[in-house]
Amino acid sequence: MKGVILAGGKGTRLYPLTNITNKHLLPVGKEPMIFNPIKQMVNCGIEEILIVTSKEHMGEIVRVLGSGRDFGCNFTFKVQEEALGVANALLLAENFANGEPIVVILGDNIATRSIKDYVDNFRNQHSGARILLRKVTDPERYGIAALDERKIISIEEKPNQPKSDYAVIGIYMYDHYIFDYIKQIKKSDRGEFEISSANNIYIEKSQLEYDVLEGEWTDAGTFESYYYANKILMNIDNNII
Ligand code: G1P
Repeated sequence: MKGVILAGGKGTRLYPLTNITNKHLLPVGKEPMIFNPIKQMVNCGIEEILIVTSKEHMGEIVRVLGSGRDFGCNFTFKVQEEALGVANALLLAENFANGEPIVVILGDNIATRSIKDYVDNFRNQHSGARILLRKVTDPERYGIAALDERKIISIEEKPNQPKSDYAVIGIYMYDHYIFDYIKQIKKSDRGEFEISSANNIYIEKSQLEYDVLEGEWTDAGTFESYYYANKILMNIDNNII
């Protein structure tokens, strides 16, 4: 199993902080933001990690992260030329994945507890995909899952009228079909290739499983959530529990 961390995007909602550097290098607690997803992956036994970022920030990212030696892993770096969405960035991982299953983390998703149990659930699943859900108070900001008793029925990206308050957080696990599915999806109204569209294809094929994430979690893409991310990581001294 390999890991992919998506660290592109412009980070406009955190401007002018993102005038200093890439959003994912901003401090959260005592470390740069991206250290949290890297540590999550290493903690799951993932040793090969691809980092995708923009050409403007690649130099800084490589300078801070190095080869991966300090984290106990090996980094590969790829440039996303245009900010065309999460699914578009993930397509750059096709050759890197080379047929193996992947764990994907959006670089601004901060979690305090290890995701190892969920990744082990995915390992036991053998095919399909697995996503993590989390109850939120502001569902309009996320991909939102409509659920029946056992399954996800559909996922809607940033809905005006959310069908639940379960957000699909930015930690995803996929078999190698993800790349075929991404190639089938169309741009959304906000001009991006949405990862929710690819996840909906897995739902159509009854191949999407989920867990509800425990512990503290936030994305750190707005000032409010960035502040909260600092708080929860300071509380655990940036060490995943
Ligand atoms: C992305 C995904 C969304 C998900 C969120 C989690 O949104 O598109 O489905 O709920 O990450 O952080 P974005 O941060 O691109 O607005």
